[in-house]
Amino acid sequence: MKFLMLKLLVLVSLSASLSAREVVIYSVYPGDRLEAVFKPFTAATGINVKVVEGKSLDLINKIEAEGEQTQADLHLDKDLVFHGIANRKGLYRAIESEKVFNQVPPHFIESNNKWTTLFYRSRLIMFNTNAVKKSELSTYEDLGSEKWLGRLCMRTSKSNYNQALVAYLVAHFGKEKATQIAKSWVKNTDMPVFTSDRAIISAVAEGKCDVGIANSYYLVPFIEKDPNFPVRLFFPSQDTAKAHINGVGIGITKYAKNVTEANMVIEYLTSAQVQAPVADAFDQYPVNTQAPLGTILSGFGDFKVDSTNIGVISNLTDIATEVMKEANWQ
Ligand SMILES: [Fe+2]
Repeated sequence: MKFLMLKLLVLVSLSASLSAREVVIYSVYPGDRLEAVFKPFTAATGINVKVVEGKSLDLINKIEAEGEQTQADLHLDKDLVFHGIANRKGLYRAIESEKVFNQVPPHFIESNNKWTTLFYRSRLIMFNTNAVKKSELSTYEDLGSEKWLGRLCMRTSKSNYNQALVAYLVAHFGKEKATQIAKSWVKNTDMPVFTSDRAIISAVAEGKCDVGIANSYYLVPFIEKDPNFPVRLFFPSQDTAKAHINGVGIGITKYAKNVTEANMVIEYLTSAQVQAPVADAFDQYPVNTQAPLGTILSGFGDFKVDSTNIGVISNLTDIATEVMKEANWQ
């Protein structure tokens, strides 16, 4: 009798804890966009996923201000710049899951396991197919050469995407050479900087410039709408530093209350079955190499990505900002 009571008590407390299981994500993506992603997770585990949406810096400041009281178990952002900031503020604890380490190549996980990339894109060269032959393209640095004078379109230096790209240059070439490269790009840019990647791709299509730098996924909707769209992408620096990549990432907060559940969410998000459809929906590449690509992305062809640890790049973004300032990149 005593044993039965004990068993029941265990069962009751177990089911109580099961029904109360929840994990909270502070996310730059809205809850309704993530709902379909987490539905199977909740169905399989009974763990409810609550999404609190906000802008990148607001969410980081919120986690910092809430301190030990924070509701956030996980922090999801779309850019390595912000994961770098959050990590330097000490807002993460290490991911502890062999499954995650098996599912994600090491260079996509910050060296101390403080955050991991989930999906990535390349920041690369978009070129006008009527004005440029693929054979004329080579490296990022080459966009600063004489032949591109007045033919290059650039986005503002305020863009986090460009900060991450320049951080990649700093990682590979050092600050001085990165500054020279940035200066050569600015010299070749004949018009005011753009405020969006989409606008750059449109300008290249209209022949306002022949080459531009933008993220891979922005080209997808243009091609879906018009298969003959006169812009194609080129993966730069394949024989040297390889293509710069940036991505959607996630970290477990230092004061997470539901650490086990948080690790389970990352295991789920990096599993091949989840990676394939979600990467496809976001037009980004899955970090799990077992996940197949969607039609358009596989049509872009294979390419080699920079294997520098993503955390290293994320820690160079302040230097990158100085480089762009010195280069007078607007
Ligand atoms: Fe974007």
